Amino acid sequence: MNDLKHVAIIMDGNGRWAKQQGKLRTFGHKAGAQKVIEITKEASKRGLQYLTLYAFSTENWKREKSEVDFLMKLLSKFLKKELKTLMQNNIKFRIIGDLSKFSKELQKVINTTIEKTKNNNGTVQILAINYGSQDEIVRAVNKINKKNITKEDIELALDTKEFCDVDLLIRTGGEMRLSNFLLWQSAYAELFFTKTLWPDFGLKEFDDIIENFKKRDRRYGGI
Ligand code: IPE
Ligand code: IPE
Ligand code: MG
Repeated sequence: MNDLKHVAIIMDGNGRWAKQQGKLRTFGHKAGAQKVIEITKEASKRGLQYLTLYAFSTENWKREKSEVDFLMKLLSKFLKKELKTLMQNNIKFRIIGDLSKFSKELQKVINTTIEKTKNNNGTVQILAINYGSQDEIVRAVNKINKKNITKEDIELALDTKEFCDVDLLIRTGGEMRLSNFLLWQSAYAELFFTKTLWPDFGLKEFDDIIENFKKRDRRYGGI
């Protein structure tokens, strides 16, 4: 049985979910945010150490301004609402990504959530916002001021320096790609792709994927 510490999820399919019902894409994002709370609670119940959720990529700025604006407002509202769940479940909140592109108000809400949950010692919920793996690696390498850089030097400069590598990476929404998510940290992650759109992703499927993960043969290049 494999040990499971870190689950990372590419929460994809909100827009298509809304469209299926003849609604605006934003309706799907709202439903997706609600799903984050449900899955985070389950991760905490299962005693996972880290749950990293891809919420906004460095490439998502390409979307229409109205959608980007909506997502920024939703993030702020979501964090204020989620705080209660985080405190009730002893969950520590952290982020990865480049915060500097966000408004000062949003940065403040994010930092307040980090600060208020910093003494919680259960599951760590890590939100990836304005996150792109390539951007993260470039920022990391530029922080290192030496020659003959080692793997450890890079790991200590990444946004994920305090977290362990990804064990299980799940992508909802049917696409079979990583979309610039945790490329370094998923070097030996077990991948799981499901057609289920993120707002439809449920506890039963999450549990089934975890059971499947536990039985996989992780060889890490060995035999
Ligand atoms: C994922 O859902 C959420 C974000 C990227 C913010 P999408 O918005 O990508 O939904 P689809 O893939 O268009 O259905
Ligand atoms: C990946 O989804 C990013 C997030 C889930 C936040 P996208 O919808 O942006 O990915 P692509 O464009 O299909 O690769
Ligand atoms: Mg998508």
